[in-house]
Amino acid sequence: MPGAVSIREVGPRDGLQNEEPVPTEGKVRLLDLLAGTGVRRIEAVSFVHPKAIPQMADADQVWARATRAPGVRYSALVPNSKGAQRALAAGFTEIEVVVSASDTHNRRNVNRSTAESLDDIAGLIALLHEAGATAEVIVATSFGCPYEGDVDPARVAGIVDRVVADGADRVAFGDTTGMATPRRVRELVTAVRNRQPDIPVLLHFHNTRGTALANLLTALDLGVTEYDASVGGLGGCPYAPGASGNVATEEVVHMLHDMGVETGVDLDALLEAAAFAERLVGRELPSGVLRAGPRTRLTS
Ligand code: COA
Ligand code: ZN
Repeated sequence: MPGAVSIREVGPRDGLQNEEPVPTEGKVRLLDLLAGTGVRRIEAVSFVHPKAIPQMADADQVWARATRAPGVRYSALVPNSKGAQRALAAGFTEIEVVVSASDTHNRRNVNRSTAESLDDIAGLIALLHEAGATAEVIVATSFGCPYEGDVDPARVAGIVDRVVADGADRVAFGDTTGMATPRRVRELVTAVRNRQPDIPVLLHFHNTRGTALANLLTALDLGVTEYDASVGGLGGCPYAPGASGNVATEEVVHMLHDMGVETGVDLDALLEAAAFAERLVGRELPSGVLRAGPRTRLTS
């Protein structure tokens, strides 16, 4: 069992993009509260078409006004080269580009086939490297697609081969609609590791079907030490109305600390950020029980 994990807080981006739009100053406040929790990585915004995701239309203003806390690595998500140029212009040096393992989801998300996105990503990686930025490729629908169903781990591993050959610094696997189970996690991580043992891997789980912490524990057992999580479990899934969103950061931190796995995050500060997030989106988030206590022993 790893002694520490690196959590990337994605509430400000993946979380808020799935909520009703909130004011710019609320996003800035959320970013700053999160930066004060001890979390070392935050996905701050995305640079996508404002018609596709109106919630991120003010990405430039949010980033311009956020306190850029020393010791926090901030990143931005982009869907294509145009987004990468915007992210670089805004000053980001850590950029994630997303491509879906399934063609149908990729077309719905970014209006082109997976192969077309991969061609664009090759140029995008070169663009980022020339600018001194890093490129992470997030493979969405890695554990299943809402349109196509099962996704073959070999297909995902093939995408990893391609982007590693094109120079990607790191890869991430998104369980976009919460279809992952421990078995799928084991199969995918193993398939990728067998072919690309050296590429850093991050996992992104949604709790749509209640499997997120089980998936995380399985991946931890396999030695994966980087995870996305979203404060308050912010977000949802447009394909599963009423279902919960990303795995909640506080639930991850709570579980890991009790197991003696360090995250750097102060749970009390995080719960305050979650309470703010709850007010911001105007609905109850799943982690209220942690605020009410009691908690397990090793929570600090
Ligand atoms: N940001 C802002 N504008 C963008 C853009 C970006 N990242 N990418 C393209 N555009 C603009 C182009 O400049 C062009 O503008 P113009 O009409 O003024 O010339 C217009 O959008 C159409 O460009 P095109 O390349 O044909 O884009 P598209 O219409 O096929 O849309 C995406 C593709 C990727 C821009 C759009 O589907 C998108 O933003 N998707 C994001 C989905 C998302 O964020 N999902 C959640 C995260 S996984
Ligand atoms: Zn997500």
